[in-house]
Amino acid sequence: MTDLSESTRLAAPEGSPSVRLAGRLIAVGVTGSIAAYKAADLVRRLRDEGADVVVLMTSSATRFVGELTFAALSRHPVETDVGGVLPDQRIGHIVVADSADAIVVAPATAHWIASMAAGLAGDPVTATCLATAAPVVVAPAMDGEMYSHPATRANIGRLRDAFGYAIVEPEAGPLASGQAGQGRLAESASIVDAVVGAIGDRPIRAPDPTLRPPIVTETRDADLENRHIVISAGGTAEPIDPVRYIGNRSTGKMGVALAEAALARGARVTLVVGHISIPLPPGAGVLVLHAETTAEMGEAVTAALNGADALIMAAAVADFRPHSTADTKLTRESGLLLELEPTEDILAGIGAAVAALPPEAPRPYLVGFAAETGSLDRAADKLRRKGVDLLIANDVAEEGSGFGTDTNHVWILAADGSQVDLPLRSKRAVADEILDRVAAALDARDHAAQTGPMPQETRA
Ligand code: CTP
Repeated sequence: MTDLSESTRLAAPEGSPSVRLAGRLIAVGVTGSIAAYKAADLVRRLRDEGADVVVLMTSSATRFVGELTFAALSRHPVETDVGGVLPDQRIGHIVVADSADAIVVAPATAHWIASMAAGLAGDPVTATCLATAAPVVVAPAMDGEMYSHPATRANIGRLRDAFGYAIVEPEAGPLASGQAGQGRLAESASIVDAVVGAIGDRPIRAPDPTLRPPIVTETRDADLENRHIVISAGGTAEPIDPVRYIGNRSTGKMGVALAEAALARGARVTLVVGHISIPLPPGAGVLVLHAETTAEMGEAVTAALNGADALIMAAAVADFRPHSTADTKLTRESGLLLELEPTEDILAGIGAAVAALPPEAPRPYLVGFAAETGSLDRAADKLRRKGVDLLIANDVAEEGSGFGTDTNHVWILAADGSQVDLPLRSKRAVADEILDRVAAALDARDHAAQTGPMPQETRA
């Protein structure tokens, strides 16, 4: 399977001395660290060096960055499952193992390094490293104490000394844990240098593209190009005193999945975020506005919506706030009886304002979410009450659905009375289902503006 002919040796194309990986296939293994989003930058830089890139992810890595982000950046299917089979029935990770010129694992967690040191082929990254003859580069990222622990030191030593892997040492500095120490993922430029060094002047292993993983064309059309979509994500927080607040369990996963999906489909995205516990989508095309309270989120969303094509309110907005906020920290001795008052309903306010627009004004398409427990009976009423075009309802008490999960089981209710029950799927897939409807409605809106409204498009 490996072509070692002299003619395939790497030569830097004339006039582009910095393109050091032209013709190479580099496999990037991403494991479950908060630094997983940095692998997107690494993929870009490897491609800038002329490399063809394929990405492998452990399942915990997919909790930090959606696999479609890497599929869009690399234009190859992302391997997330050891048993994954390509459309032509080849085993995905074996194709990568046989055709990659180097495998670079970045970020590599302590857990992954330990699995690799023990030869446990439980995820596609370890399985590919075990099955390959290509050089392997490992860029660890973890807490400083974990990095200096004797177990990690021994495992890294084994990877370097017994397996011959190149280790790109993490940097010292502030870490995601809030501590300082050595553990921050090395800069992408240093990792790229290590990959170039590890390959040296070896011949290209699989210059024939049919021996490599297949190219995927864009998973979706760029059907939101030139559209501006405003998305809210996460939970709002209403202060009780300088240290305490009323919050909720929202992690922001659904809103961030929507933002990533909209970006991948060519939209310009404004993401209004409250409290979230996952990384924001990397890359250009997204403007992030932070809003702590319901009032701040209302202001940010209303300002961003000016001229925008659609609003998707995925944020879990507090319904009540303390009537007054203490200026100093409340003490235990003084006791606490909170008087609450309702917050403004952001979406209902915007729905009413949009309904009052003159008929010729372009109206933004409005999508709301309804987090219910036990029954979805109130959802249709909520759709009318909020004046939205689409309401995404889910039972947050159902297993695999709601706050903090990677999946969602939703019903999509539309203003025309239609209801669709979407069985459990990834939040990214739910996001694309929603955006399919947004894109189609915006196209219909533009068409109606040119040709006059069609009867079925008039709002109830
Ligand atoms: N929402 C909003 N402003 C609020 C409360 C909710 O804009 N003050 C939005 C949410 O972002 C979501 C939708 O309204 O898109 C429905 O939120 P939900 O909490 O399900 O509904 P509520 O209006 O709070 O109604 P209830 O708590 O009675 O179910």
